Amino acid sequence: MLSLLLVGILTALVLLLFLSSWKRKNLPPGPVPWPLIGNLHQMDKSAPYKTLMELGEKYGGVFTIYFGPLPVVVLYGYDTLKDALIGQAEDFSGRAILPVLERIAHKEGLALSNVLHWKEQRKFTLTALRDFGMGKKSIEMRIAEEAKFLVEFFQKKQGKPFNPGIQIAAAVSNVICSILLGDRFDLENPTFQTLLKMVNENIMFHVKPGFKFYNTYPYIMRWLPGEHNKIFENARVLQAFLKGLVMDHIASRDPKCPRDFIDSFLNKIDENVNNSNSTFTMDNLVYKIYNLFMAGTETTASSIRWALKFMLIYPEIQEKVQKEIDSVLGPGKCPSMEDHARLPYTNAVLHEVQRFASFGSMGIPHAPLHDISFRGYTIPKGTQVITFLHSSLYDKRYWKDSDHFNPNRFLDENGKFKKNDAHIPFGAGKRVCVGESLARMEIFIFFITLLQKFTLEIPAGESVGFDFISGGVFSKPFHICAVERV
Ligand code: HEM
Repeated sequence: MLSLLLVGILTALVLLLFLSSWKRKNLPPGPVPWPLIGNLHQMDKSAPYKTLMELGEKYGGVFTIYFGPLPVVVLYGYDTLKDALIGQAEDFSGRAILPVLERIAHKEGLALSNVLHWKEQRKFTLTALRDFGMGKKSIEMRIAEEAKFLVEFFQKKQGKPFNPGIQIAAAVSNVICSILLGDRFDLENPTFQTLLKMVNENIMFHVKPGFKFYNTYPYIMRWLPGEHNKIFENARVLQAFLKGLVMDHIASRDPKCPRDFIDSFLNKIDENVNNSNSTFTMDNLVYKIYNLFMAGTETTASSIRWALKFMLIYPEIQEKVQKEIDSVLGPGKCPSMEDHARLPYTNAVLHEVQRFASFGSMGIPHAPLHDISFRGYTIPKGTQVITFLHSSLYDKRYWKDSDHFNPNRFLDENGKFKKNDAHIPFGAGKRVCVGESLARMEIFIFFITLLQKFTLEIPAGESVGFDFISGGVFSKPFHICAVERV
């Protein structure tokens, strides 16, 4: 009886393997998946990017792995990413609708939408972000003001050790809040801090095994206990908070004078009131500001935290940055984007921080909107495609000693800033980050303002290391002593 059962199980496994290899026929190559679990067991749990790097070395620029029964195509290395995202931009412009994100935002918002819906909303988003300051002097001044609040907070610590994580997130978030909601919050406001902690938890979840498991087995996972339930609850609380702000806007608005992103969107809803196909709806507004609030907060805050952390690890680099700031701006002048070209070393340091920390290294998954051909393979409609940005930021063909932190790689022999095409932390092509120019401006102004005023030191008895956590993109919380410069 037992042997019959064993033969049955073995036959079923062989059949499953055969069927899955038949299905894999036209997909790019990759490791053989196991029935039901695919290649999930092969992924490094705490640093999946390491597994993808190893597979990229083995299989080349484009390969397939399986999350459970689902094929996932990975684009590896700058050349492949460029060929796909720039060379076949339209083919790769769709977004994979992952069950976690679908449950949180119901395919709405910008980052999760597709086809006409997405085109219309992306155009509106870029215009509205620019109307309310992105890329303009007005937002530069807003950032400088937030940087001053951050400086005041650092000053209050009087050189004693503290963890700057949440206040950096608050200052950054206030910039996107002023565009979206026309308002800001005190850096130490406890409600705001609670919301920001939720933002952090939800963004971190994207690189945890639970995120992959839920997306692979949603029908099972939705009934099980686990971190995902907290993430859905966080999203509900954040969306309810934002909905409350939308209601306040409705009560106080003057359609002739839109004050911010929400007012502009409300005007669009009015304009389209008789259009039953319109994507300008109340639900979409809430999901969209949720999306921008999330995307505009933790990504940029994390980049600034990393930049400060690197200054602790490399005091000699911090000293060089401060020397450059002192010679160009002196102790009192607020930094502005006009100073960019005159601060090549500082600019090089910030580029190297973004390369090395490789924040957002997996990108946000894409999916073709119809069957496409790429490098002789067929990628069927709806297949999840990971635009593995980390592999470009660490691509050995474009970066010498890519595992070393070295800002000088961004300088030419005359000390001028030198670009490298493989530096694509914001993605590339049609889905490239809509907040890129805002994020760059924020990182530049916050970082320079802080180093102009303080020298950052590791608290006595503590140590700070690279400590990549959760898939390699987040830094462990750390303490600093911010010693005021005289
Ligand atoms: C250092 C900071 C940031 C980094 C590293 C970053 C990175 C990225 C990446 C890698 C993508 C995916 C690109 C793709 O799918 O190919 C993305 C998309 C996006 N980002 Fe950012 N981002 C940052 C800041 C911001 C800010 C400040 C905002 C808000 C204004 C923002 C809003 C978005 C949105 C809405 C999308 C989705 C675009 C779409 O699907 O069309 N990001 N970002």
